[in-house]
Amino acid sequence: MLNFSKLAIVLAAASMMAACGKKEEAAPAPTPAPAPAPAVAPQSTVEVLHWWTSGGEAKSVAELKRIMQDKGHAWKDFAVAGGGGDNAMTVLKSRVVAGNPPAAAQIKGPAIQEWASEGVLANLDETAKAENWDTLLPTVVADVMKYNGNYVAAPVNVHRVNWMWANKAVLDKAGVTSVPKTWPEFFAAADKVKKAGLIAVAHGGQNWQDFTTFEDVVLGVGGSKFYQDAMVKLDAKALTSPTMAKSLETFRKIKSYTDPASPGRDWNLATAMVIQEKAAFQFMGDWAKGEFAAAGKVPGTDYICAAAPGTANAYTFNVDSFAMFKLKDATAQKAQADLAAAIMGVEFQEVFNLNKGSIPVRLNMDMAKFDDCAKLSSTDFVATAKTGGLLPSIAHGMAIKPAAEGAIKDAVSQFWNNDKMSVADGVASIAKAAATK
Ligand code: BGC
Repeated sequence: MLNFSKLAIVLAAASMMAACGKKEEAAPAPTPAPAPAPAVAPQSTVEVLHWWTSGGEAKSVAELKRIMQDKGHAWKDFAVAGGGGDNAMTVLKSRVVAGNPPAAAQIKGPAIQEWASEGVLANLDETAKAENWDTLLPTVVADVMKYNGNYVAAPVNVHRVNWMWANKAVLDKAGVTSVPKTWPEFFAAADKVKKAGLIAVAHGGQNWQDFTTFEDVVLGVGGSKFYQDAMVKLDAKALTSPTMAKSLETFRKIKSYTDPASPGRDWNLATAMVIQEKAAFQFMGDWAKGEFAAAGKVPGTDYICAAAPGTANAYTFNVDSFAMFKLKDATAQKAQADLAAAIMGVEFQEVFNLNKGSIPVRLNMDMAKFDDCAKLSSTDFVATAKTGGLLPSIAHGMAIKPAAEGAIKDAVSQFWNNDKMSVADGVASIAKAAATK
């Protein structure tokens, strides 16, 4: 549960973070004198909370802002830095508890249900019906956007999480001639990179980054069924099985290929190491592609996108979405409806996802302008949906309730950061965390 009553306790900390958030918050920019006046006077200011602050992310969200401004609404950016969104969620809770929610907030996965059960989210059915969302969305996505059969969130995209990014020039320099498809092949390639004096794995230092790698490893080592049993169903037998121990061993081995400066590093700075030929590989969802794209890099030429070792037949998905908070003012409600319609509209679905590295969530979109990585993602999304290889990402809030997710992420990061912790203790602490209600 979101536990609103207990939230007051964290309010002090949260308001500090809100202050950080405000640093990023840009007031609606005044129209510079020579620029043409907007066609329509602003109808309403729409305040949108999100955590898209890296280069590629900021370019993407700017498109949503532009579309809303074209519709005559003023955009109030409520960006809370911190990849993965943990900071953003803390700040959001404090705003809602204070009775001052933003018009819209980036909320994903089972957390949508939790927020809706608190009675604070607006019903988006009217827009959804008018815009045909039921026929335009894969059922697996539509279900997550609904609470008690009513739409309460608008989906933005589909990110694939189980990607491995590689710098082509670094692989050439190290004599790695083919992209590793299994974990043993990966370690052989990583050894060559190390020998060439370069960093094999670019890694950052937050628990969601550790977990992004960890879920790749669990999937690659154990396969889709094991991933489902252990990580989604949180089955105690799977969580304490030898396969989980093997996953932790593999996970620990990856750490020996990272550089000592990784703790505390943001994910996009790790991506920059790959872009700048300092490191060979990064395990990260395809928002990393937004960084490559923003740096003018071309897939296949400058960098390679490949499924993380052992995971080519599976697809861990992460769907970004916006929920709207109940607001009394009719113009504010109109702005929310316009925002929801814009998010699912063809124009936004194309331009946003081209910048963001993800693929459109809206079905039957023309993929002509998308690159080969996005095309592969799109084909694999459809194919794995048929074979049962479509899996929710735990690291990105798609699979389990926030309390258990947070506890498991912490347990995995403790193991990652403490080389002295035995694998058996790591297994036990993850299993214990999974029981958190
Ligand atoms: C979000 C992405 C975002 C990434 C890094 C993920 O959880 O779904 O949209 O780019 O975190 O901040």
